[in-house]
Amino acid sequence: MRQALVMGNWKLNGTKASVEALATALIAPAKAASNVEVAVCPPVIFLGQVQSILADTPISYGSQDANVNVAGAYTGENSPVMIKEFGAKYSLVGHSERRQYHNETDAVVAAKFQAIQANDLVPVLCIGETLEENEAGKTQEVVERQIQAVIDLCGVASLSNAVIAYEPVWAIGTGKSATAQQAQDVHASIRAFLAAQDSNVAQKIQILYGGSVKGASAAELFGQADIDGGLVGGAALDAEDFAKIIAAAN
Ligand code: G3P
Repeated sequence: MRQALVMGNWKLNGTKASVEALATALIAPAKAASNVEVAVCPPVIFLGQVQSILADTPISYGSQDANVNVAGAYTGENSPVMIKEFGAKYSLVGHSERRQYHNETDAVVAAKFQAIQANDLVPVLCIGETLEENEAGKTQEVVERQIQAVIDLCGVASLSNAVIAYEPVWAIGTGKSATAQQAQDVHASIRAFLAAQDSNVAQKIQILYGGSVKGASAAELFGQADIDGGLVGGAALDAEDFAKIIAAAN
């Protein structure tokens, strides 16, 4: 049985005061949801503050990205070694906003995945199709290509210590979530695609849904057989709604 995981991606949002308030507000709901792992991914600049707030709580945390370089003359990059130094468990990789705004190819994402894992962080591989690709019936082709790029570089077994987040780009930040059935269908096809290469990985890996998950929609989504939790953006910045999402996964 896979552990439910509810992860908040705070994106580029927060102040020291709001980070303090939001992280603190999540402690009680996380403690009350004994069957769910709760994690937050703040902007990397706040990792130290989040580490101190969440010390001795069940809430994990991570970064929203990590670079391949671990140290040296790489101005502005974020080293997975340094991220780990702040007690982080996870790093997102391949989020559609990085693929779009930073031209991150499948090869770049795979290299980052490898560096994240090599430095004892758990990569959360973000995949998903655009509206155009969806309307062209290319969803399966796209998500399989994105996953295969990681398998080709790191091997299918590497996914036994990773998380996949399926985030249809057309549902991110739009308020228009995929229906529970739409999401389940893609999650099931991802699991079948992995099972053809490694049945153990396919059964073990958590596949999260992301894209306008809200307190009101979470229970139906998480009730699906192949949806193991959520990667939440906007609603993760609202402590009350994120608490509802956590409770829905419990
Ligand atoms: O990484 C999660 C994010 O992309 C989803 O955003 O605002 O649609 O929940 P949102």
